[in-house]
Amino acid sequence: MSAHAHRIVVLGGDGIGPEVCAAARSVLEAVAAKDSFTLTFEDKLLGGCAIDAHGTALPDDTLEACKRADAVLLGAVGGPKWDDPTAKVRPEQGLLGLRRALGLYANLRPVRPHAALADVSPLKADRLAGVDIIVVRELTGGIYFGQPRRRETVDGVEKAIDTLEYTDVEIRRVVRLAFRLASERKQHVTSIDKANVLESSRLWRQVATAVGAEFPSVSLDHQLVDSAAMRLITEPARYDVIVTENMFGDILTDEAAVLAGSLGLCPSASLGDGRAGLYEPIHGSAPDIAGRGIANPIGTIASAAMLLRHSLGAPASAARIERAIDSALADGLRTKDIGGGLGSDAMTEAILKRL
Ligand code: IPM
Ligand code: MG
Repeated sequence: MSAHAHRIVVLGGDGIGPEVCAAARSVLEAVAAKDSFTLTFEDKLLGGCAIDAHGTALPDDTLEACKRADAVLLGAVGGPKWDDPTAKVRPEQGLLGLRRALGLYANLRPVRPHAALADVSPLKADRLAGVDIIVVRELTGGIYFGQPRRRETVDGVEKAIDTLEYTDVEIRRVVRLAFRLASERKQHVTSIDKANVLESSRLWRQVATAVGAEFPSVSLDHQLVDSAAMRLITEPARYDVIVTENMFGDILTDEAAVLAGSLGLCPSASLGDGRAGLYEPIHGSAPDIAGRGIANPIGTIASAAMLLRHSLGAPASAARIERAIDSALADGLRTKDIGGGLGSDAMTEAILKRL
């Protein structure tokens, strides 16, 4: 890792977002001190808090700071205060706009159940043995962004339109990234689509097959999303790298989080062609527990580890954090969501102590 200071923008966002980001930041600072590198942090607004302050979920000043940064650490956005379905500005627009503006087309969501948490998962322990999955979710295309997208009333009939569209270019780049990951893991990609119904999925399957031919040592399966949703629970150990479009990936990763024991444990990295990336837990802003100091900080701390690995080129520091998390969990330390009684600060302290 180079000697200059790495610039990290922190977007705490709403609800528990700022709390879990503060926890992850303290872990990053501790690791930087131990492994002798320098990090600078800059806090910016995104989501509901940005709407309150500036009337927009993604202020220009936030976007500019993120573009200059080496990496962005994000908490979560949204909450009941901004949930009016007729509102023109919504917190989620900030997150979606940021992913798109930074060109972060691949969202990596690793799911690796911790052995110590086998009792927390609703699945039987033997189903969880050997589970180690990375879901690569396409993040800047599909129905989240397709046009047209509007409401219209024709002859008294109200209609809403969303558009699901993909180009071969969008599919190829994210599938390639999934294959590159698989070639360093168990050499297996599962591409998930709905090719029996959707035209966009038929293109997805065609492009995935062509990309597969570039990686002869990696095997490729195609699965339909409905049966994949079932097999993710009945035979999760069969998966290595999953690649899928934006909305299927959104849904399947909340499901996959059940394998890990809690949404609160799961990190993510959003990457594009450069090294800069956006790192966030996959959980939401959890307004019901915000400000109570009980949120599980592990999803965000594990996201900070991914930040070190993917954006700062510091895999050893990343592994140091991951080992500290494993060790804290192995010692039975747990927040409320995983059946324990520790608050966020105590959980963070436990991880800091084990770095
Ligand atoms: C996620 C979230 C977001 C998404 C929401 C908050 C817009 O569910 O990161 O998975 O759908 O991408
Ligand atoms: Mg989601």
